[in-house]
Amino acid sequence: MGKITTQDILSFKNKRKLTMLTAYDYPLASLIDRAGIDMILVGDSVANVVLGLDSTTKVGMSEMLHHAKAVTRAVKQALVIGDMPFESYQLNPEEAVKNARRFIDEAACDCVKLEWFEKALEVTEKIIKSGIAVMGHIGLTPQTADKLGGFKVQGKEAAAAQKLIEQALALEKLGCFAIVLECVPDKIAEIITQKLKIPAIGIGAGVHCDGQVLVTHDMLGLFERFTPKFVKKYINLSPMILEAVEAYKQEVLEGKFPAPEHTFSINKAEVDKLNSA
Ligand code: KIV
Repeated sequence: MGKITTQDILSFKNKRKLTMLTAYDYPLASLIDRAGIDMILVGDSVANVVLGLDSTTKVGMSEMLHHAKAVTRAVKQALVIGDMPFESYQLNPEEAVKNARRFIDEAACDCVKLEWFEKALEVTEKIIKSGIAVMGHIGLTPQTADKLGGFKVQGKEAAAAQKLIEQALALEKLGCFAIVLECVPDKIAEIITQKLKIPAIGIGAGVHCDGQVLVTHDMLGLFERFTPKFVKKYINLSPMILEAVEAYKQEVLEGKFPAPEHTFSINKAEVDKLNSA
């Protein structure tokens, strides 16, 4: 199968579920791609799960492009989405278009994602009109979580849910090819999913969405600081890595590593020549 396009993603709506994971480097992007995941997001969650920062607002364009380049070098099939970082699109619509273009031209991403904010419609429209495909992101939008009352489920009251429906439909009307719904009650996510003609990709939004996304470091158990309720750990790699590193340390201390099979040798005659010289 060739490279997945935004048109393919649109065409899967109501046919089969869509899969999406984050990646920030070559080895994991390569494995995720080989597993046949449809979409790989170079998420600004890199701030938390890779860079040890306490907020996604602390990464900028240069870090995001650095990671995006590593991911696109690895990916042969999945659609790669560059996540626009905080203040790369909120401050000025022209700047937003330039930064979106950098994800495509410099990092070879296929499209960009941006989080909902007051001027999301204006900015999304400009980016799409410039020829770049956009994935929307509504519900809990971590870059502006302080304005949403913190990291909590969104759309729990009818009025708030109505706003989410309006945001989703407005983004669809502008031409977004998909929308991430983050931390939304499952019933509201179901209503939005049914109303949209484009795929709704859920994270903490229940099973009725058209597809699911998770932060890879969460689902692999590589991020130990905090695990949100919506995360399922498919494997817990941290203790396994710790065990392997401890075993290496022990073998080095005991002189058991490297063993003969990890060692280069030389003819005894050559060593004798060297010694006699
Ligand atoms: O940055 C990220 O990982 C995201 C996902 C949570 C959708 O935006």
